[in-house]
Amino acid sequence: MKILIIHGPNLNLLGRREADVYGTRTLDEINKLLKQLAKELKVEIDIKQSNHEGQIVDLIQKSNPYSSLVINPAAYTHTSVAIRDAIAAVEIPTVEIHLSNIYKREEFRHKSLISPVAYGQISGFGPESYLLGLRAAVSIATNAKKGTS
Ligand code: DQA
Repeated sequence: MKILIIHGPNLNLLGRREADVYGTRTLDEINKLLKQLAKELKVEIDIKQSNHEGQIVDLIQKSNPYSSLVINPAAYTHTSVAIRDAIAAVEIPTVEIHLSNIYKREEFRHKSLISPVAYGQISGFGPESYLLGLRAAVSIATNAKKGTS
């Protein structure tokens, strides 16, 4: 089983970016944790980061070798019809994740354009959101294989 993980814009700055909101772990550190967990769960993962909406759309369009997708669309969560439509088009089971609890923050973050096309959303657990997201992505892909989702 192969799972695609996409980090959206500005997440390459984790560790230096608004540490009071996003914590002090860098993206490399989070990716290391994800790789460790993938090993434990005996799944393969590919990890991509992009600051560009069109590149994220391209990655999603090419996601057919993957069983499921974990995505932190970051700021595009609240604006991107293109990313939403790409997920809907390829019908990849998707877990939307956020480090911060977007519902506790500014009102413009309360609306996710991605949630209606995601299997589910995990928000507010810091780096643990990614690990919970990977576990969820394995679970939905396993159930889809068995035809029980
Ligand atoms: C975020 C929340 C978004 O509102 C914000 O634009 C981000 C990160 C999160 O992980 O908490 O860049 O997706």
